Amino acid sequence: MTQPCEIAQLGAKVLRQHAEIVQHVDSPEIQQIIKDMQTTLATTQGVGLAAPQISRLKRIIIVASRPTTRYPTAPLMAPTVMINPVFEALSNEKEKDWEGCLSIPGIRALVPRYKAIRVQYTDEQGNPVEQKLEGFVARVLQHEADHLEGKVYLDRVESTEDIISESEYFKLFTRREVSL
Ligand code: NI
Repeated sequence: MTQPCEIAQLGAKVLRQHAEIVQHVDSPEIQQIIKDMQTTLATTQGVGLAAPQISRLKRIIIVASRPTTRYPTAPLMAPTVMINPVFEALSNEKEKDWEGCLSIPGIRALVPRYKAIRVQYTDEQGNPVEQKLEGFVARVLQHEADHLEGKVYLDRVESTEDIISESEYFKLFTRREVSL
């Protein structure tokens, strides 16, 4: 039985370190990290999680899109485990939209992200996967991939005026939004 893990909070060194490439997807260590991440994410309102957020410096993320107020057409997808994800932008076009983070409670910010990307990763069974992602799902992936480089979304805001408190954010939207 896997217990949810504590989520590292901004200021924790682990959130500022590079995660290591996963060599053996089928190793008990990696499979346990995946289980821990799934269990932990399921206890939150999050739509994504990166291994460094549970203090494991491995290149593993989970993307778990669901429709939200701002992204009503976002696909409802089963949480997808992506190991060693690498992405490229399909065009230089970026758009700004709101993000939050389970490691940075209490605030939201407008973050520019590529609108469309192509991602390659290994799934939890060790199979190579290539996908094109756009909009909200592409945003979640870029946010989680940043965690693998020791970056958080606040590093990408264009102006400190684009950072607001969560309570003010909730006034902008009618219902509670999720965190990445
Ligand atoms: Ni995050």
